[in-house]
Amino acid sequence: MSVLRTKPIKDVIAQSQADGEDGGPGLKRRLGARDLTGFGIGIVIGTGIFTLTGLEAREHAGPGVVVSFAIAGLVALLAALCYAELASSVPAAGSAYTYAYATMGEIVAWIIGWDLLLEFALGSAVVARGWSGYLAELFNLPAAWFGEEGSVVNVGAIGIVLLLGVVAIVGIRESARLTNLLVLVKVAICVFVIVAGAFFVKATNLTPFIPPAEEAGAGETGLRQPVTQAIFGMEPSVFGFAGVLTAAAVVFFAYTGFEAVANLGEETRNPRRDLPLGLLGTLLVATVLYIGVSLVVVGMVPYDEIDRGAPIAAAFESVGAGWAAVLVSIAAVAGLTSVILVQLVAMGRIGFAVARDGLIPPAVAKVHPRWGTPYRITAMMTVLVALLAGFLPLTALADLVSIGALCAFVLVSLAVPILRRTRPELDRPFTVPFSPVLPIVSALACLYLMLNLSVETWLRFLAWMLLGFLIYLFYGRRRNRLAQHKS
Ligand code: ALA
Repeated sequence: MSVLRTKPIKDVIAQSQADGEDGGPGLKRRLGARDLTGFGIGIVIGTGIFTLTGLEAREHAGPGVVVSFAIAGLVALLAALCYAELASSVPAAGSAYTYAYATMGEIVAWIIGWDLLLEFALGSAVVARGWSGYLAELFNLPAAWFGEEGSVVNVGAIGIVLLLGVVAIVGIRESARLTNLLVLVKVAICVFVIVAGAFFVKATNLTPFIPPAEEAGAGETGLRQPVTQAIFGMEPSVFGFAGVLTAAAVVFFAYTGFEAVANLGEETRNPRRDLPLGLLGTLLVATVLYIGVSLVVVGMVPYDEIDRGAPIAAAFESVGAGWAAVLVSIAAVAGLTSVILVQLVAMGRIGFAVARDGLIPPAVAKVHPRWGTPYRITAMMTVLVALLAGFLPLTALADLVSIGALCAFVLVSLAVPILRRTRPELDRPFTVPFSPVLPIVSALACLYLMLNLSVETWLRFLAWMLLGFLIYLFYGRRRNRLAQHKS
């Protein structure tokens, strides 16, 4: 049963502490709670709120998209509580991957690691294309090179990914500084949208708040319909409460990435206190801003007239405040930059943890002696993301990011009660209240949101997982560190 072997917690902690010593071979402990929250907000607030709000209001939920953001935020918050307990007691790089290795066994850990790579690689590619689109809007750049329509290769997306890849490699400290600056701009613009937009909200746009369910159009049937509707043989429909739930599953994308904070355990000065603060702080800020911004946007424009590409900027334009639209676009470009940067950093850390265990060749996890970052794996992932972002029209794949994150959250939630059983004596600076009830509710809620995604998304997700499984079978299972120790 080698695929179910677990990695002893004491090894995980000892290894991360040894690697984390300043001057040691591993990552450097330089970050505090503020940096972590900065990283979290940096990675979380992005294309989800700047783009998906409009699409989902228009296609699935109407003004009810506000409720979708609240539901998705609540589910993310439940998962974040579970992350906080695990991250504070096992503060090692790799987050969910590492917790699973210590609790549910190697195969589950590999599946999570593979799944997280999907989430971050596709996520940053989607955001890079969104970034390129906003830039094109600001400077009137040709759509063929910067936009989605008629595009062969998106040079804007490739350029920004390569540039930020270099920043991520040169140092976590530099990334943290740049991210903190961009985060300030992003939070400020969200607050600005809420306050300035509130003056233009019309009650008529908000009624009915949840438009009655109607039959789905041609684009929303067959493989495009949610799994819940397909399983129960329901007529494919949009709007109504079912539409709000579909939108909640899609806008879950907007909350993905907060778990990257848990990845920085080995680079945090006081991980036991700062990791829970960083995780929960990030999500609270994001949830409040998302509810505010989405409420204002659907209040400013009738939901069936909301712009698909740049809903917030277009909303201001439609009420005659063109200057505010330009301001929003500039901030979106800055804000999306930080999302891409932090995702690149996070990917390097997950790869670092997986390679350290030997599930992929350890040489790729090497940390640079001067920069203190896992530079090889970060460079490799940067090139991969640049290629994805340059050549694939990725908007439809945002759903794939949501399903990847939700799947990891199901497993992380379950890891909490399992670890409490197997290692009751472990020091837990932060504990999830009402365990095991709350972690189980969290797992079920994530699973339910997954089921609200389309059949097509499920099929793509399962194909990716199958590929990961094959790699594990033919490489990781034989070559990893635990197997080598035993032989
Ligand atoms: N949560 C991130 C975003 O919305 C990925 O862009």
